[in-house]
Amino acid sequence: PLISSTKLLLKAQKGGYAIGAFNAENMEMIQAIVEAAEELSSPVIIQTTPSTVAYANVDMYRAMVNTVANDVSVPVVMHLDHGKSLDLCKQAIEAQYTSVMFDGSTLSFEENMLLTRKVVDTAKPKGIPVEAELGTVGGKEDDHEVSDKDALYTNPKQAKQFVDRTGVQSLAVAIGTAHGFYKQEPRLDFDRLKEIRKAIDIPLVLHGASGVSDESVMKSIQLGICKVNFATELRVAFTKGVNKVLEEAPNIYDPKKYCAAGRAEVKKLVKEKIIICGSKKKA
Ligand code: 13P
Ligand code: ZN
Ligand code: NA
Repeated sequence: PLISSTKLLLKAQKGGYAIGAFNAENMEMIQAIVEAAEELSSPVIIQTTPSTVAYANVDMYRAMVNTVANDVSVPVVMHLDHGKSLDLCKQAIEAQYTSVMFDGSTLSFEENMLLTRKVVDTAKPKGIPVEAELGTVGGKEDDHEVSDKDALYTNPKQAKQFVDRTGVQSLAVAIGTAHGFYKQEPRLDFDRLKEIRKAIDIPLVLHGASGVSDESVMKSIQLGICKVNFATELRVAFTKGVNKVLEEAPNIYDPKKYCAAGRAEVKKLVKEKIIICGSKKKA
């Protein structure tokens, strides 16, 4: 069934594991993610970015996730990833998403705080938890690109002030990850993560996990990360599955044939990531 992320993340925090948050673009990816979670008895978060909900719309994705989630026993969260405006967050809340992110990381500290607070004031009465971002995750997610040297890491003192004043349920931290793949394996600032964890007690979120080594993901979970976002690797897996079928049999014209292959690749990958997150058998 579909549930809110609040309790799941707090339980993960206590248990020292993380919930995988997987970006889905279509029905097949949604099915793959939920099937993987069900087979491993793991809670799971499915998320859609602004460009994804522009490809279809929030109601479409919410309906697909709800239908798939109602068929399984594990808890499934429907999350808006990188909501870039109060309006988009409102749309997701209206569509009955069970969790939203407001990403004000490109704004000034004050503006980010003010707008995040507005999203919390809108979401909280409806029981919807809000994830915010402080500091900047590098790379490119959707249309907004951050050059590596501008990627400002999260400041622990500011994080405390931010959380106190906004009342967010979880916080995405910038500790050296970037969206997409990396030219070289990123070195994460684990000392900073420890400082952030000391300064604030809400669940912390790691963005940009595609291309980060399993060891680094696991270490960041030990240090307080409770939600890990994976997008690019899933997109690549789906596309690889589709390509393989079309290369081997270029005359295939039934979308079911090649989409099923993409789905199978995504499912395999999500199972690996769930195990790395440590959420197997935590449903
Ligand atoms: P990757 O594309 O690097 O996995 O980043 C995912 C993410 O942070 C989605 O919000
Ligand atoms: Zn992200
Ligand atoms: Na990445």
